[in-house]
Amino acid sequence: MLARLLLLTLAVTSLLASAEEDRVEQLLTQMTLEEKVGQLSQLGIQNTLSGPAIDPGELTHFPITQVGSVLNVYGAEHTRKMQEQVVQGSRLHIPLLFAYDVIHGFRTIFPVPLAEASAWEPELSRRVARVAAIEATASGIHWTFAPMVDIARDPRWGRVVEGAGEDPFLGSALAAARVRGFHGHGPPDLSSMMSTAKHFVAYGAAEGGRDYNVADLSERTLREVYLPPFHAAVEAGVEAVMPAFNELAGVPMHSNNALLTGLLRNQWGFTGLVISDFNAVWELIPQGLAQSPANTAQLAFNAGVDMEMASQSYRQYLPTQVGSGQVSRQSLDDAVRRVLKAKERLGLFDAPYRYSDEAREKASILTPQHRALAREAAQKSIVLLKNAGSLLPLPKSLGTVLVVGSLATDAQATLGPWAWAGHPQDSVTVLQGIQHAVSADTQVIYLPGASPDSPGTQGIAAAQQAAHDADVVIAVLGETADQSGESRSRAELGLPGAQDRLLRALLETRKPLIVVLMNGRPLVLSTNVQRAPALLETWFLGSETGHAVADVLFGDVNPSGKLPITFARSVGQIPLYYAHKNTGRPPLGDAAFESAYIDVPWTPLYPFGFGLSYTTFAYSPPRLSTTRLASTQTVDVEVTVTNTGQRAGDEIVQLYLRDDVASVTRPVRLLRGFRKVHLAPGQARHLTFTLGQEDFALLDERFIPVVQAGTFTVFVGGDSTTQNQARFEVTDSRRLSTPGPGAPN
Ligand code: BGC
Repeated sequence: MLARLLLLTLAVTSLLASAEEDRVEQLLTQMTLEEKVGQLSQLGIQNTLSGPAIDPGELTHFPITQVGSVLNVYGAEHTRKMQEQVVQGSRLHIPLLFAYDVIHGFRTIFPVPLAEASAWEPELSRRVARVAAIEATASGIHWTFAPMVDIARDPRWGRVVEGAGEDPFLGSALAAARVRGFHGHGPPDLSSMMSTAKHFVAYGAAEGGRDYNVADLSERTLREVYLPPFHAAVEAGVEAVMPAFNELAGVPMHSNNALLTGLLRNQWGFTGLVISDFNAVWELIPQGLAQSPANTAQLAFNAGVDMEMASQSYRQYLPTQVGSGQVSRQSLDDAVRRVLKAKERLGLFDAPYRYSDEAREKASILTPQHRALAREAAQKSIVLLKNAGSLLPLPKSLGTVLVVGSLATDAQATLGPWAWAGHPQDSVTVLQGIQHAVSADTQVIYLPGASPDSPGTQGIAAAQQAAHDADVVIAVLGETADQSGESRSRAELGLPGAQDRLLRALLETRKPLIVVLMNGRPLVLSTNVQRAPALLETWFLGSETGHAVADVLFGDVNPSGKLPITFARSVGQIPLYYAHKNTGRPPLGDAAFESAYIDVPWTPLYPFGFGLSYTTFAYSPPRLSTTRLASTQTVDVEVTVTNTGQRAGDEIVQLYLRDDVASVTRPVRLLRGFRKVHLAPGQARHLTFTLGQEDFALLDERFIPVVQAGTFTVFVGGDSTTQNQARFEVTDSRRLSTPGPGAPN
């Protein structure tokens, strides 16, 4: 019975699929060359035009009836009107795809992705992306340009804020989770949103951390570090991929046939859309690859870019180029087919306005449930970096609390970059959160003191004076929302403006001082910051910032976040990351002629994976199920984690692996597992991680994935510097049958 039902379902599904394909094929036979190329164009409407009040009349000079997609237009009413214009005003009535950068929430704003990565909780990332999709789709959006899965090891690059940090293993887990979250149950569910893995590839490796700059990587680093999160996103079913603005070893990514077609399409089997970045097809001219917009169209299309965002080279030149044979008709049809299929899957041919429903929009935006998830995500994203003398958590019954720093009241900053559909007035600022949390008898005084975007020092004296009279000082310091993000590279990574001087003045009062950092990248923390007894990294936490920060400050929540990226001591150390190589002269710190610096320690200020709690955790030595195994076998690594403090808390248990000897050099350790555990005071739990060939594998000299016989050291602990270790041996070498992301074509 069950089997017959299954067969019937399969038959119906394949009938539906073939009906969809028939419609797409039929449309293709009816379309002119210009109409086909139109489908490959996305109109980039400036954000200033994207508000709900937009008048469609304003758009008459835009050829919206001749394009396949529109960027930056949202709102149920607004998208409906524009869709009507297109469906009714075009010959074949092909609906538009509405695309928007839903990066960390739509109207309910969640922590920036780097913050969310500090929670090390893929399921949380999935849930957050789900809510973002529910809100955005209710506002007419079909397609987001997220997740950004670029590995970033250079905090000068302002876009570190948009990704999951420095590690491909954590990054891959979060990339896949976010893709699943945006997708949900998939169409016909109205809250299913197409996602985009971007920016393919090595955008985070921009030289000098300067945005859009060239990347020049070894093939090994590309395959081992930068490609895996994209592969994970493709495996998770991401519907689109966006090439990066940068060139890679001399080949701009928008003309990179080897990677876009050879690797992504042919080797990985990606069947979705490749959408250019904003104007990036045209940018092949300044990059020195093309003489004219006509050349750019041919180069990008033949490399494998299906749809062009913003610049109009495709619309203008592809029809002639197909006519003259410079671009193949077959490839053109394939690209158009991918666009039409996406529209068909979303159900837009049958119901073009199905995503534009005002009632659904009203009911879906900023609901109490969404805000509750934003608060949970924000709480879990906070990293406690320092807590000397257990200054935190604070009692709620303090006499006078002084809150200092303009960021404390900066609602825009709570949203961080890439949150244009978010409204600052929906956000709880840090000051509001503190005011809300303390007892009725506590006096909360606020003074701006200094601000990240002004050199002005005039507020410092008053702040210092007020600090003298306060029981506790909370200094909210860091960056404004637009000091990180796209084109926000910084060469200096200290506190901008006069904030460090403010801090020095506050330290002079010797009052209990807590520094709450708000920023989009690991800052280089000055001696003054390091002198503060308590330090909370809160990144940009979104709509519920103030509540979440206060929850942690006053102990309603025990912080559990761990850094997804290393904090350097000095800009000169960058790039600095835990998975470095040993070198022939490892820095042991006791001799000259080591791989170190003479002026600054070589180690980070705070390592990858680091984060404190209001309780403490102890780890047993790792216990192995075997110490000798064949390459096809697995080994269980068991560890007991005990809460040795007075409060319940969550610990993110991390497992790292080192291949001790191999035919190519290996990083000193690589993250290979992580798990979050909740432990009551005194409670202990045994955790087991299973390691197998995927974990032992490496790419050999010819980039063939192999397991090589020899010893491995496994480390288990609370951050990437743990020395809690054990060793096992793999007794034979073997080539792997599954190629993995980095294998050669
Ligand atoms: C960014 C992309 C973004 C696009 C559309 C570009 O400037 O690099 O990440 O998706 O704009 O807004």
